[in-house]
Amino acid sequence: MSLEEQVKNKAVNIEKKDEDRKKHQWLKIGIPFVVLLSFVGWLTGWLRDQAMDATTILSISAPMQKQAETLYKRNTFGKKLVALTFDDGPFPATTNRLLDILREKEVRATFFELGTMASRYPDVTKRVYNEKHELASHTMSHRQLNKISAGEVAAEAGQARDVIRNITGEDPMLMRPPYGAINRIVAGNVGAPMILWTVDTEDWRSKDAGSVLERARSAAFDGAIILMHDIYESTVDGAAMVIDALREDGYEFVTVSELAKMRGVELRNGEAYGSFKP
Ligand code: NI
Repeated sequence: MSLEEQVKNKAVNIEKKDEDRKKHQWLKIGIPFVVLLSFVGWLTGWLRDQAMDATTILSISAPMQKQAETLYKRNTFGKKLVALTFDDGPFPATTNRLLDILREKEVRATFFELGTMASRYPDVTKRVYNEKHELASHTMSHRQLNKISAGEVAAEAGQARDVIRNITGEDPMLMRPPYGAINRIVAGNVGAPMILWTVDTEDWRSKDAGSVLERARSAAFDGAIILMHDIYESTVDGAAMVIDALREDGYEFVTVSELAKMRGVELRNGEAYGSFKP
């Protein structure tokens, strides 16, 4: 081997060693990098779990609760929600069948009951309450509140509240004025948030399940309050169809109070609400 060749070989060898060193250098950076990356991945998962856990903490301190509520809201973001509401009951034949359907389909609804009906059928009212639906007031005797005096408004609201409390041991939180008729005197004397509606199935007019379904499905939106009456057989049939259809459309069913809470609305006495949009 000539001297020239020897020098050339040496140079090639040095080059090779350099390349090897470079490879090792890459590993020296690469391995810690991969380790760091997996740690960050684990940490992200852990933090997310902590955030999820925080949603179950409801009251430790006010700021903490606020934070938990924000997280809760964030977790339910994107869900389409509706509240099914049933007025003018309870009426044993229809309300009990509706309750069977709601139980089977695992849906909770809000019942705006008349004091006169609840006192006549307390067992049905008790069942509504026991099965975790929201029990609310539709006044004592369905008078049009904007046509009567302040004292009469207060009596209509107060008597219904008493009847329901005597049956369940709990005051109803919400009320719905008959016909949605309100004015300032009504607002000032009902002593509860006034819940109206945004989807009217007009079930009392059509007495037809298919029409109830069609109206509810075509008018439903995220945050809507849907009005029905649990005193018609056709409404009970319609409600079952509405539940299946809206579920297919991606809706979940909550009570009116839950809907307000999930949308961050604090309900006030004497104020009217027709929907709780995101
Ligand atoms: Ni009514």
